[in-house]
Amino acid sequence: MSNYNWIDGNDFSIRHFYLMDRWLLAMIFQPFNGCDPEKLGTHARTLGTLLDRHRDLVFVIKKRAPEASDGVDKLLKVAEATLPDKELRKREIALLEAYETDVVYTEPRIMETSCNYIYAWEEKHLHALCDLNGKVVLDLGAGTGRLTFAAAKIAKRVYASEPVDRLREHMRMRIQTEDQKNIRVQDGIVTAIPHEDDTFDVVMCGHVVGDDYEAELTEMTRVCRPGGHLVICNGDDDIKRAHPDSELTSRGFKAHYHKSTVGGDIYNYTKQV
Ligand SMILES: C[S@@+](CC[C@H](N)C(=O)[O-])C[C@H]1O[C@@H](n2cnc3c(N)ncnc32)[C@H](O)[C@@H]1O
Repeated sequence: MSNYNWIDGNDFSIRHFYLMDRWLLAMIFQPFNGCDPEKLGTHARTLGTLLDRHRDLVFVIKKRAPEASDGVDKLLKVAEATLPDKELRKREIALLEAYETDVVYTEPRIMETSCNYIYAWEEKHLHALCDLNGKVVLDLGAGTGRLTFAAAKIAKRVYASEPVDRLREHMRMRIQTEDQKNIRVQDGIVTAIPHEDDTFDVVMCGHVVGDDYEAELTEMTRVCRPGGHLVICNGDDDIKRAHPDSELTSRGFKAHYHKSTVGGDIYNYTKQV
């Protein structure tokens, strides 16, 4: 579990879990399926205690993400019935901060103002990587639309694929507000893209691939037309990186480096299919 200081836990509560869709709930609770409750740590015990005190949330999770039901039951087994409210709130804040990369997706507006990889980023970094003029582009794991809206300024059409419903709605609201005509928002994950082979001129993403490069890059390549481009355009965070990702360079990606305005070493990647 990483901590990027994207959120202040005081601004959130367990009630934000009611805003999570099936995909997000499964990501959080499925890992507890089949676990040994005896071996669960403090955050899991806090989660169990909070679930025990918010039984409506247990109902919602089990109905919305039945694949995570067993994990929820395991957590309920470690609920601490006598924990004082004040101590529980303290532990709840720490839990929410530990789960910040999931919790933040429930508040896309907070993402835009708190996540440095979004607010410190400049569109020129995308446009320097690839000519998007008149192209049909797919943005995978589009999030709040950082890359999508930048590409849409010159691309023919951009498909913004995003598994979290709150983020899809956020992009749809922005499309409406800005009266954007060339963006389509859709559900989907990078390893199962709901498009035919050879569909896109450019298939791009930022901060999405890395869990399973083989499956992810194979699928990205499948939907990119021969001669088209795969683009990995990360945001401008403050993370120091000594070298580009060798998994990507060894798979034929060219690395492009710049220093971010908040001090990070940023590597972006391109590859022609
Ligand atoms: C750190 S955010 C980056 C958002 C956006 N690409 C950007 O760089 O501004 C990661 C995004 O990837 C999405 N995501 C996570 N796992 C994914 C997967 N397996 N397939 C597609 N999207 C995924 C998340 O829902 C989230 O919107």
